[in-house]
Amino acid sequence: MKLLVTGAAGFIGSNFVYYMLQSQPELMLIGFDSLTYAGNLENLAALQAEDKKRFHFIKADITDAAAVAKVIEEEAIDVVVNFAAESHVDRSIHDPQVFLRTNVLGTQTLLDACRQLWRKDGQWVAGKKFVQVSTDEVYGSLGPTGEFTESTPIDPHSPYSASKAGADLLVRAYHDTFGMPIAITRCSNNYGPYQFPEKLIPLMIHNALQHRDLPVYGDGRQVRDWLHVSDHCRAIEAVLMRAESGSVYNIGGRNEWENIAIVNKIIEILRDKTQDQDINDGLIRHVEDRLGHDRRYAIDASHIQHDLGWEPSIGFAEGIEGTIQWYLDHRQWTENVISGEYQRFYEANYAHR
Ligand code: NAD
Ligand code: DAU
Repeated sequence: MKLLVTGAAGFIGSNFVYYMLQSQPELMLIGFDSLTYAGNLENLAALQAEDKKRFHFIKADITDAAAVAKVIEEEAIDVVVNFAAESHVDRSIHDPQVFLRTNVLGTQTLLDACRQLWRKDGQWVAGKKFVQVSTDEVYGSLGPTGEFTESTPIDPHSPYSASKAGADLLVRAYHDTFGMPIAITRCSNNYGPYQFPEKLIPLMIHNALQHRDLPVYGDGRQVRDWLHVSDHCRAIEAVLMRAESGSVYNIGGRNEWENIAIVNKIIEILRDKTQDQDINDGLIRHVEDRLGHDRRYAIDASHIQHDLGWEPSIGFAEGIEGTIQWYLDHRQWTENVISGEYQRFYEANYAHR
């Protein structure tokens, strides 16, 4: 089986490449990523020589119809897993357009290429599948109780989540209209290695280590459900290997935390690990709230548990400790992605090859 992994140099995409190479020894993977500020080839630098026999990387944009069609045709791709996206809610508030371009038009470009290349004599070729990595944010926001199920109405609030909802609905539309073989996943907040330090957990780790302010939006009592990225990768593996065409699966950790509690947890673990007493809650600053900030997300993941036998395997205490240790062990990585060093390295060494 040959897999096209878009967004392979991002946080979840890179974790997925490592995970799948190990989990599926027969699989061939092609990474496809335009290397925006959030995509770094360094995220794939831990690939071993053996892995590289089954993986190669193409720097290209999912809105580039010619590049997309070329790779799907020439590599005889069986499954597309679409991680590529603009992923940060705050950025979407400042500049929505690129979110529409990549998340909506990029997804449509991928869908159209598959629609043209995966059909023979009016029939879909067997064994093909398009997996759209959507998000729980398409459901909007919850009150203090309740959980999103797959039949919760789509009700996005930010330009990011609206663009992801557009993509999610387009994928479903290609299934309904053309019979395209698809699956859609809607996961909660991921944490783990290689997450760009604009997101809550790596940002707080980075700032705390430098004794900089820890900016908590509003009262900090918004609730997110956190899942270790490797559990998300296992769930996507289950979906691409075993889900029926047309299926939609929620993925979550049953692990709800208020943001302020997560920040305090990070302070506690970091202080313990570094013995640096200046890492304390005096660094917390309540700042202006995010516009349109969703109050609470919570996921009912019983559908994927019953259908595909997936459930989270990494408890939060273990997962967050390991994640914080990873960032302590990779401080140069954080400096390099923030400074754009890896992009400059790519431009200087690879861009003209
Ligand atoms: P990320 O921002 O870390 O990575 C996104 C990757 O996509 C980067 O490597 C970037 O270079 C690439 N990319 C962006 N625009 C592109 C384009 N036009 N063409 C090709 N590549 C492009 O994001 P992430 O956190 O790894 O999220 C991956 C996917 O998972 C996204 O679709 C996101 O919506 C979804 N998701 C994320 C989470 C989470 O908690 N991070 C949870 C649920 C779903
Ligand atoms: O739920 C899945 C989504 O999770 C994904 O679809 C998105 O791609 C991913 O970015 C993430 O979105 P969030 O907006 O939930 O993640 P973020 O890390 O930006 O913020 C988490 C919470 O922390 C949110 O309530 C906002 C708050 N926050 C965030 C930052 C960056 C702060 O209070 N301060 C901060 O500095």
